[in-house]
Amino acid sequence: MKRTKIVDIFAPALIGCEVSVKGWVRTRRGNKYVQFVALNDGSTIKNLQVVFDMNRFTDDQLKSVTTGSSIHVTGRLVESQGKGQTCEVQADTLEIYGSADPNEYPLQKKGHTLEFLREKAHLRPRTNTFGAVLRVRSALAFAIHKFFNEKGFFYLHTPLITASDCEGAGAMFQVTTLPLNDLPHTDDGQVDYSKDFFGKPTALTVSGQLEGELGATALGAIYTFGPTFRAENSNTPRHLSEFWMIEPEMAFYEISDNMDLAEEFIKYCVKYALENCKDDIEFLAGHFDKELIERLKFVVDHDFVRLTYTEGVKILEESGRKFEFPVHWGTDLQSEHERYLVEEHFKRPVILTDYPKEIKAFYMKQNDDGKTVRAMDVLFPKIGEIIGGSEREADYNKLMTRINELDIPMKDMWWYLDTRRFGTVPHSGFGLGFERLVLFVTGMTNIRDVIPFPRTPNNAEF
Ligand code: 4AD
Ligand code: MG
Repeated sequence: MKRTKIVDIFAPALIGCEVSVKGWVRTRRGNKYVQFVALNDGSTIKNLQVVFDMNRFTDDQLKSVTTGSSIHVTGRLVESQGKGQTCEVQADTLEIYGSADPNEYPLQKKGHTLEFLREKAHLRPRTNTFGAVLRVRSALAFAIHKFFNEKGFFYLHTPLITASDCEGAGAMFQVTTLPLNDLPHTDDGQVDYSKDFFGKPTALTVSGQLEGELGATALGAIYTFGPTFRAENSNTPRHLSEFWMIEPEMAFYEISDNMDLAEEFIKYCVKYALENCKDDIEFLAGHFDKELIERLKFVVDHDFVRLTYTEGVKILEESGRKFEFPVHWGTDLQSEHERYLVEEHFKRPVILTDYPKEIKAFYMKQNDDGKTVRAMDVLFPKIGEIIGGSEREADYNKLMTRINELDIPMKDMWWYLDTRRFGTVPHSGFGLGFERLVLFVTGMTNIRDVIPFPRTPNNAEF
């Protein structure tokens, strides 16, 4: 008999049918006449109740059916008399794939803390919480591809190993095959990278943007969706050393087009999750965040506020609020400032534009005031910055002037500058931190809990 996934079993048409189900035992309870097993196969947050009539099964047969064990059951699907489920399976046959010693299985009990489960990252996907988060994460990844595909964007694969270190987005992880305990040296005592794998220093990328610009100035509109790596020692609930980023890049887009796209994109993803992950989001709302669904609907239904950095700083200065980091024109905004604007002042998402050039990357389009650049950050409730982007400086001379001012080593970057030398066009793009979107949609509060295997300083066990 063909296996039915538990997510498909609740279809009314299956009532009365013989079914074959496979999964992991969540709990077993009962008495000497009847035993009830809650079975989960990961396809849905819902467990299927399997009923064992103990006239037909022996205690010995059910001995290994303990929390965490894996089983295969065939039997008839019937309407359930009990509370909490619409249907249940009356077991005819039982096959045990694998036992899980109750004295050793780490998830034997319910109600573990998220901190405890982080230490058990290899098994935590079997909990309700992480099952829900990972299904939502998967749905959001699909929504992202769907959105861009519907808009005619092309999915561009940008390299993970790069020789350019001038994006300036963060410290990089070096990639080398040189023997670290016996490095080759040049005559002047430097490490001899000509002997390294690529013949030059290389590292894991912090962003696919620069290569994305090459794609956009050929295909018109592209997006990347891949892992990026940042070696900063920032131990916050919103930073990972390895995170996934979506970076659309569009030719012939000015900053306002860029803002429109960012807003439409996030709303599309949140709406997709609300419509397609109802059970999981309801579970997460019930357990962690009572206002979650309201907050998600609010974002979908309301325009984001758009204002300049200068206006934003003025609001912060006049707020009378004592911030941990003092704020004035020219300072980089901290999460406390971003969240004040979003959660207390405007009470909705904010797109902040035109930041001082000193605190933004070299490639951003320079405004005529000589002080600001056409940057845009999208700020979200509970999260702070969820998107960072800009219109790009398309003028070769202006870009070179900025590069020289900042003393950026451009010798490996000639290929990037060629976009401005040959058929340069106005263009824009942004980067969405995927885990920050998953944080927002799931209502979780620590970014380590929305990626299966988090990479953070001193943490790469699993
Ligand atoms: O603002 P960032 O550094 O921008 C860039 O990398 C640009 N190249 C994007 C572009 O214009 N194409 O990063 C973009 C987003 C942030 O807004 C944030 O959501 C996320 O990536 N992010 C991180 N997420 C998790 N852990 C980290 N360490 C992150 N750093 C940035
Ligand atoms: Mg940023």
